Amino acid sequence: KLLAESEFNQECKELLSSLPKDKSFFAEYLYQYEGFWYPPNLLEGVLYSQKHFQARDSDIIVVSSPKSGTTWLKALVFALIYRQDYQTPLESHPLLDNNPHTLVPFVEGFNFHTQDTSPGIFSTHIPLGSLPESIKDSPCKLVYCCRNPKDAFVSLWHFMKRLALKEMAGCTMEEMVRGFCRGSSVYGPFWDHALEYWKESRENPGKVLFVMYEEMREQPREWVKRIAEFLECSFTKEEIDNGVLEDIIKLCSLENLSKLEVNQKGKLVNGMETKAFFREGEIGGWRDTLTPLLAEEIDKTTEEKLIGSSFRF
Ligand code: A3P
Repeated sequence: KLLAESEFNQECKELLSSLPKDKSFFAEYLYQYEGFWYPPNLLEGVLYSQKHFQARDSDIIVVSSPKSGTTWLKALVFALIYRQDYQTPLESHPLLDNNPHTLVPFVEGFNFHTQDTSPGIFSTHIPLGSLPESIKDSPCKLVYCCRNPKDAFVSLWHFMKRLALKEMAGCTMEEMVRGFCRGSSVYGPFWDHALEYWKESRENPGKVLFVMYEEMREQPREWVKRIAEFLECSFTKEEIDNGVLEDIIKLCSLENLSKLEVNQKGKLVNGMETKAFFREGEIGGWRDTLTPLLAEEIDKTTEEKLIGSSFRF
């Protein structure tokens, strides 16, 4: 095993040295691999998953760009799938004592082996084209959560400030917007990421369900029902009458999750503070952070990226 690990590390090193790189605020450099940009530790996770992740037919993968609603969707899918096991979820449920990232591991997080339930519920930020082959080839299902690029950017900005990485010291918002628009951002370009999954969801609707964060915020009942249908675990009339759908929405709400001790004082295995994943969850909250000029820069990129596509954020 040790030999395999050191071989893997050596392969990664060699690959990194051959890739285009760009100065960044996420790590010293971001590296461009198969069209998308990564800090080295995340890229290693992607390469490891490409080699070792074995999707099972029944697996469910929550996909997103960072800061687009990953934590929420992980919680919802987990609560949906295991709803028979927890009849009074607001009183007793794993989500009351565990952060959603603990219950639903990342495909590129090295710890996917820890998920041994069936179906396995995983999540990933990996772009469509770079997914492990077994995810593409098996009938496992993907739920993609997308968000307005300006809100996703602002959420990332605040998240990065909270993490207080040394590379972020002195980083201005102008510089970070510029990087984001160039595509040089964690798992960027943001737009290409979304467009690829959106296209796949149109061509292969049984494989990928494309969900907008804003629409889920506005109509959670409709969207949670639709996600359940897609995952082949539709709500029965009896469940709806008994308030099961409402309970799941309440359990997974920002208001509820963010006030739990595990999400206020907890830490993930990688040392990240769980509270960093919960903030305002607003639609259009970017107005409080972005100047009109920076908002325009992101809008311009959005316009350019959407040329030729009928997709709109
Ligand atoms: P804001 O920073 O705009 O508040 P991710 O989970 O992909 O990292 O995304 C984080 C964003 O989702 C943050 O947005 C966070 O507040 C919001 N969020 C986290 N949990 C949520 C929940 N249960 N419901 C709605 N939004 C949530």
